[in-house]
Amino acid sequence: MQELGDGVSAGTVDEVAGADIVVLAVMWPDVPQAVDRPAWEGRILIDPTNDFDPSDLNGRTSSEVVADLVAPARVVKTANIFAADVLASDPRQAGGQRVMFLSGDDADAKHEVGGLFEAAGFFVIDLGGLREGGQMQQFGGPLAGENLIRFA
Ligand SMILES: NC(=O)c1ccc[n+]([C@@H]2O[C@H](COP(=O)([O-])OP(=O)(O)OC[C@H]3O[C@@H](n4cnc5c(N)ncnc54)[C@H](OP(=O)(O)O)[C@@H]3O)[C@@H](O)[C@H]2O)c1
Repeated sequence: MQELGDGVSAGTVDEVAGADIVVLAVMWPDVPQAVDRPAWEGRILIDPTNDFDPSDLNGRTSSEVVADLVAPARVVKTANIFAADVLASDPRQAGGQRVMFLSGDDADAKHEVGGLFEAAGFFVIDLGGLREGGQMQQFGGPLAGENLIRFA
């Protein structure tokens, strides 16, 4: 627990899923099992997962698949395009702000999640819905791996 730092605690999947905002931080093959139990009514689920072979999704984005699994939770795709050490580093760089892309089909959920990243110092860009935004963000998309700094 010391390793996790202040403000972080461990809990069961059911306890975690009782939070207003849940981050789905599991590897893609583990997603169905990880989201199977909890009741998702009223939750926002942040999806940072990467399916490294989205070719088997019949043209759907991985976040659309996640959204179906956790319906009626509102899914926001974000924080998947760069490595954990970049995510954890100071988003204020060289007088600019690291860009955090997000997408989702619920405007209020995106506003809420975007606000969290803005409060942490990121410059948030809304790419639209889980389909069009997800296509840009997910593995193999044009924004995957892009670590951009926005200058005012
Ligand atoms: N790491 C990165 O740099 C990075 C960057 C961008 C996006 N992502 C994406 O973020 C996701 C998580 O990546 P990660 O690097 O954090 O993976 P990770 O280090 O392998 O951690 C995955 C965690 O999921 C847990 N887990 C597995 N099945 C579960 C289940 N059914 N219920 C609850 N927990 C379960 C594992 O617990 P056990 O250890 O007990 O099995 C493990 O703690 C992936 O989809 C990855 O593609 C990662």
